[in-house]
Parts: sequence; structure tokens; C-alpha cells
Amino acid sequence: MIEPVLALTEQVGSVADYLARGGGRGLAAAVRLPAAEVAAEVRRSGLRGRGGSGYPTGQKWESVRARPGSTRYLVCNAAEGEPATFKDRWIIRRNPYQVLEGIAIAAYAIGAARAYIVIRGTSTTEVRALRRAMAEMPPRVPTELVIGPEDYLFGEEKAAAEVIEGRPALPRILPPYQVGLFARSGQPNPTVVNNVETLANVPLILSRGAEWFRESGTPGSPGGMVFTVCGDVRRPGMYELPLGLPVDALVHLVSGGPRDGRTIKVVIPGASAAPLAPEHFGTPLDFDMMRAVGSGLGSGGFAIYDDTACMVAVTLCFARFLAEESCGQCPACKHGCTAIVGHLERIEHGDGGQEDLRSVLARCDAVTGGRRCALPVGAESFVRGAVETFREEFEAHLGRSCPRPRCVPLPLIADFGDGRFRYETREVAA
Ligand SMILES: Cc1cc2nc3c(=O)[nH]c(=O)nc-3n(C[C@H](O)[C@H](O)[C@H](O)COP(=O)(O)O)c2cc1C
Ligand code: SF4
Repeated sequence: MIEPVLALTEQVGSVADYLARGGGRGLAAAVRLPAAEVAAEVRRSGLRGRGGSGYPTGQKWESVRARPGSTRYLVCNAAEGEPATFKDRWIIRRNPYQVLEGIAIAAYAIGAARAYIVIRGTSTTEVRALRRAMAEMPPRVPTELVIGPEDYLFGEEKAAAEVIEGRPALPRILPPYQVGLFARSGQPNPTVVNNVETLANVPLILSRGAEWFRESGTPGSPGGMVFTVCGDVRRPGMYELPLGLPVDALVHLVSGGPRDGRTIKVVIPGASAAPLAPEHFGTPLDFDMMRAVGSGLGSGGFAIYDDTACMVAVTLCFARFLAEESCGQCPACKHGCTAIVGHLERIEHGDGGQEDLRSVLARCDAVTGGRRCALPVGAESFVRGAVETFREEFEAHLGRSCPRPRCVPLPLIADFGDGRFRYETREVAA
């Protein structure tokens, strides 16, 4: 008989409820195994990081285990400051216990002395949920909540490490697996940073096994994912589904498709991958297959726009966000992102020419030079992808006012409830 096991977003009311519904079994199974075997089981499951890069989780744990250094740390990344994404806050709201159990298992597997959960100060509901869950289910490894700034960069792992050490969210040079928390000369303190959703999957893998996890999803991207779908669809929402489903099914079947008389023009997988045009809507939701069409799965957050939206305005909206969030430590990133916004503004306001379009692409070529983090890689992919895929629309906008005037809000999600998203207030008037 298959025993009931909680998925990631089932509502759990208390630790008693959690345990009654199968919670805790992953940790119990993990501590019966040698720590190396726990990491190996997660590697065999094929679990890939849900924070954006899709890096194999077991491999990350094994490489930190193999690094010299007696003190290791674990960071659970709950910063979630990217537009069109709400899934980590949703998981924490629904079932913080499973995240804590995932932290306990990961800490055991890598031999961490301490764990940190990084979360933005405005995530008050989730901070409350985590505090309550930690009081009810005392962590097996000392675990500290670190309340951080609103910056998008706070979620970048090298910036998160800085914040944990009491400094601003400015990415340091080396990644935490090399220079970990509180590292000193001769003490690298290798540190694993994992996303909330990645860690919430771990108890399921340990309680049911790697083979079970591989039964859903695709061979290259096993398991399920918690998708955020916002924008011009009838049923925006949070959906936990197996990986491998085509984008089209998520947009049209699950989220209800466009409103009457409209068609979906573009699917935007967050701020760091190229927008997807309809010819690619058949692409499976899989890390590698999304990359193969020049885009990415990101953290499973999608902003959808119908044919009333202007692609210049949409691109400007995201480019402006990235330029504002660039911290300025690397000149090519800050200057490049700012210049891209300037050219897009000229086009959007009807003052742009071919030279602006050429300059946008030339800036894309250079924006990643000497970078400390992947923010400008996202800017390049997003802006280049938008211009190349929707070139005709950009060209038609040169020297004329917006043919599709409409306010395009940046989908920076503040809250979700009753089937609606509430956005933070930054807006771009088209
Ligand atoms: C600008 C920027 C912002 C990021 N924000 C987040 C975030 O909010 N949450 C997150 O888990 N990862 C974020 N990441 C990715 C992290 O650096 C890191 O790769 C991730 O937390 C690793 O977890 P995973 O392997 O479980 O995916 C961000 C990366 C960049 C470049
Ligand atoms: S690449 Fe950009 S965002 Fe990242 S550290 Fe450098 S300036 Fe800051």
C-alpha cells in the first residue's frame, strides 16, 4: 500500500497535523543512514535546485562534503525577490514544517553546524509561520532566521552570505561553497545555499526513495514544481504540477488561457530568461528543454501578457527593474543595464530609431563583462530575447508613440489570496 505523503503545498495546520499526515518520516529515514548515503540518495533522485539555476542538489551537497574545512553551514534561501514568483512564500505559508524537515536532512547530509533561513522583512506572514513552526518543532540543528532587505540581490547566494554576516546585500567574489559563512584564512567553512522549494522536496525523497521521485517529471528534470502564473490569464494562481508538462498546458488548460477575444502573446519566465513566443509554447517545463529554445525554467514563475500588451513596454518594465537592482560593483553591469533602459525609453516614448535598437543589442553584448553575479546574464538573456523574438514589434514602434498604450505593472508579487495576486507598487506607464 502506498502511504500518504504530503506534497509541498498542502495546507498543514500544526505539527500534530504534519506528523499525522506522514511528516517527519524523511528525517527519521535519513538519520538511520550514513550522511554520505543521504546525499547520494538525493543525487540519485535527480532533484535540481528550484531557485533558478536548476543545479543538481545531490551533487552540490557532495561537493561541499568533499571540500576541506571542519565547519560547514547550510542556508535556506527564502528571499524571493524576483518578479512573477511567489512559490517559496506559498510553500512556507502552507507547510513550513516540511521546509524545516528538509533543512534538518540537508544539514545532516552535509554535516552543517548551523543553518540560516534568509527572508525579506516584508514577508511577515511567512516569518510568523516559520517562527511558529520552529517553536512547535524544535530544529535538530541550530537554525536562525535572518531578516534581510528588499533587494532582489538579497536572494543571490553571495549577497545572502554577506547579509548573514551583517553587511549589505552586495555579492562577494567567490561562491559560498568555496568561501563560506564566517570564513577566515585557512577556514573556508564551505556553505550550501538551497532554495526553499528544493529543501521542501527532500523529505519526500528520503521517505519514499529516489526511484519514486523519478516517477514524475522528465528524466532530466524529475519531480514536480510549484508554478506561479500571473498576468493576462483567467485563473492566475499557484499550481503544483509535475515537470514536463508543456508551457501551453500551464497557460491554457491550468490557468484558463486569455480573456474573451484575446490571445496570449508572450510567456515570461521571470526576469532572467528570454520571453517565450507562441511558437515555443509546446516546450515542456523542463530545465534543459526550456534552455534548448533559448529561454529557461527559472524558478517556475511566469508572467503572461496577451495581445494588448506592448512588448517594448514589457521589456522596459523588466529592464528597469534589473537596472535599479544592479548594485554597481561591476561597471559593465550597472552602466549597461542603465543604458539599455535609456534606449528602450526612447523607443517606448516614440523618439527611438534604428540606432537605439542597435545600441540595445550592443549593450547586451557587453553587460556581463567582469560580473560578480548572474544578474546581468539575466538582463542580457531577457532583453536580447525580447528584441530578437519581437523584432517586428520593436521596429514598428520606432519614431511613433505606443501602438498598444496600456499600463504594464511590474509583477513583483506582494501577496496572493482569493485567486488574485497583489503587486508591489512600482509601475511603468506605457
Ligand atoms: C539576482 C539573483 C537573485 C536571486 N534570488 C534568489 C532567490 O530569491 N531565491 C533563491 O532560492 N535563489 C535566488 N537566486 C539563486 C541563488 O543565487 C542560488 O543559486 C540558489 O539559492 C541555490 O539554490 P538551489 O540550488 O536550491 O536552486 C538568485 C540569483 C541571482 C543572480
Ligand atoms: S554583476 Fe551587477 S548586480 Fe552583480 S555584483 Fe556586479 S554590479 Fe552588482
